[in-house]
Amino acid sequence: MAEGQDPSTVMKQQVGKAAADLVKSGSIVGLGTGSTAAFMIQFLGEKLKSGELTDIKGIPTSFQGSVLAKQYGIPLTTLDEVDHIDIAIDGADEVDPHKNLIKGGGAAHTQEKIVDCLAEQFIVVVDGSKIVDKLGTTFLLPVEVVPMAITPVMRKIQQLGGMPTLRMGVKKAGPVVTDNGNLIVDVKYEGGIDDPAGLEQTLNNIPGVVENGLFVGVTDKVLIGEIKDGMPIVREM
Ligand code: 5RP
Repeated sequence: MAEGQDPSTVMKQQVGKAAADLVKSGSIVGLGTGSTAAFMIQFLGEKLKSGELTDIKGIPTSFQGSVLAKQYGIPLTTLDEVDHIDIAIDGADEVDPHKNLIKGGGAAHTQEKIVDCLAEQFIVVVDGSKIVDKLGTTFLLPVEVVPMAITPVMRKIQQLGGMPTLRMGVKKAGPVVTDNGNLIVDVKYEGGIDDPAGLEQTLNNIPGVVENGLFVGVTDKVLIGEIKDGMPIVREM
């Protein structure tokens, strides 16, 4: 690793590149959200430009993804125009030993879950800091909520044992508003999440909840970027 380089950025770059290398010409590709997925989108664009990759179409999972795809010259399509997604590549905030995830650090988990779950192959790209023994131990669980239901939804989450906080904007007054026009509640679970599959269903059954950031049983492959002996490496979980 070159002197002065930020290790976290280098790990994200390497794993983003490794994932872009898995994409085949002619594929429909789900384009994830976040700083790691952004590197993957950049590398896909570079491979298209060099001719190493041809005829791919991207389906973005956020406004960020669609802006980046346009910037790097990746043609976009929509779920109305295709009948399948070959591969989706996305970041995560936590990954447990069963490859279950917490996502939504970028408030994009609703569209991410739609696209990632539809993909024939769903690849997760993370740096080593995202690997945990139990979900909910290092990151709060994001829940997207319809604005008019925010108070009853937060009350219900609390009754069910969670500690919800409304996510506030940075360099913007007021709460974060998602790409879908909704709000985000970040929920703390003391001691972590014991039953991710059960909690995913329970939260989504609360009227006013659009989607939560638990991704259970959907990941096919996790690529982890790490620094070993001063060199960036990518390993598969
Ligand atoms: C956005 C997400 C991101 O994939 C997740 O937050 C990871 O982002 P980063 O690669 O920047 O750490 O779920 O909603």
